[in-house]
Amino acid sequence: MNKIKFRDHHHYKDGGLLRSEKVERKIIEIILNSATLDSSESESSKVWELKHSSGCCQLARILAQKRNLNCEIAEVSALLHDIYVVKSGKYQDHAKLGAPLSEDLLNHIGGFTLKEIKKISKAIYYHSEKEIYTNEPYVELIKDVDVFDCSLYINAEGYYRLHKLEIIVDEYIKRIKKVRQELNLPEEPVFRQR
Ligand SMILES: [Fe+2]
Repeated sequence: MNKIKFRDHHHYKDGGLLRSEKVERKIIEIILNSATLDSSESESSKVWELKHSSGCCQLARILAQKRNLNCEIAEVSALLHDIYVVKSGKYQDHAKLGAPLSEDLLNHIGGFTLKEIKKISKAIYYHSEKEIYTNEPYVELIKDVDVFDCSLYINAEGYYRLHKLEIIVDEYIKRIKKVRQELNLPEEPVFRQR
């Protein structure tokens, strides 16, 4: 009888991590060790950043399969898309300010080509422009996973309606509906209600 050899999962302990797994561990370490998140000036929290980066990472893996995209580029872009918020606790211009931070982190971790780093950094740089549709698959992927992940939390709609212009909320709704359709989910509820 043929015996298939399986490799055990490392559970992110010690060595043997792939480059994307090193990014997964690093972003968690940055969040957990942050002195800024959870401070009174911070607009975010450690819990939110842990949940949102992990949630977006899983959704990016799912949509990457649907869209025939590279899973590693998708998951790393998702993990790092809010890196500026993670480091500063601030949302103002976080997409554009986060792109160079992601490049530094990926260069530090190593194993990523310049072309891959530019692709990831571009997806992060443009991810706040939800109302714009491009031909860049990873840029669109990160915009989509960002809004769709948030839509699965209670009161995400309230947050958007209180903090964003109505035309922008309409664009978010359009994107969430598009992803729901792609995943064969019912169109409603666009935002989780309870
Ligand atoms: Fe986000």
